[in-house]
Amino acid sequence: MSAIMMDGKALAASVKRDVKEKVLTLTRQPTLAVILVGDNPASSIYVRYKASDCAECGIRCLDYRLRADTSETEVLALVGELNRRDDVDGILIQLPLPPQIREQVVQEAINPGKDVDAFHPENVGRIMQFAPRFLPCTPAGVMALLRRYGIDPAGRECVVVGRSNIVGKPMALLLLQAHGTVTVCHTRTPDLASVCRRADILISAAGLPGLIRSDMVRRGAAVVDVAINRGVDGKLCGDVDAAVADKASYLTPVPGGVGPMTRAMLLVNTLRAAQMQQLLTR
Ligand code: GUN
Repeated sequence: MSAIMMDGKALAASVKRDVKEKVLTLTRQPTLAVILVGDNPASSIYVRYKASDCAECGIRCLDYRLRADTSETEVLALVGELNRRDDVDGILIQLPLPPQIREQVVQEAINPGKDVDAFHPENVGRIMQFAPRFLPCTPAGVMALLRRYGIDPAGRECVVVGRSNIVGKPMALLLLQAHGTVTVCHTRTPDLASVCRRADILISAAGLPGLIRSDMVRRGAAVVDVAINRGVDGKLCGDVDAAVADKASYLTPVPGGVGPMTRAMLLVNTLRAAQMQQLLTR
């Protein structure tokens, strides 16, 4: 048996078509402001992708490139200005930030109604209460993929590997909201293999190539690989070993699985921010 590959690229394309149609119904073009501090090569590529996704869907993208030595005060001043502007619907600060800028401080400075990453404590709290305003992009993309392939977490054993603020923790909450029984594993989990073997739905977001071996996967499980690593051969790979395809019922490819869905969900959130903004200013 070979797993069905979950096609994130195709689903993302259909989500983008839907966003593009809905953008046309708005009275004003939605606008996303993206702030990149410094020149981290991976971040620069991500930001370029985000701008081209926006263009594809009729969303205006304001691209702020700040020097690596920009102070926290300067970033906060820009965020304040973007918060006040009626023509800016969404604000995204690309992570990681240089060491002189505190992530928590700038995330808390963003107007929660424009926080399309859903990183502001108010939005995180809402996710925790199962009353989200915005869904965090990567976990929301995973949930959309599961839905598309008819994989319902309700009553199933769900195991999340990784406890980051961006993926692991919000992923666990969305699965819990969808009535899964959720276990979160991390670097101090003593017997990762035995916990993973319990999973009907296994989500790996650890960033370690080869971490999830075939013997750690229950036959017929759905396996979602969130990680994007650079393998020893220089090619992109996730956390999941290729042999898992013979054990799982469903598997996401890397690239072409979760990555495109994360990008698509940012557009969904920007559309939602614009819709909310229009209701406020009508
Ligand atoms: N860096 C890596 N992933 C993300 C993300 O989802 N949002 C932001 N803002 N930065 C990131």
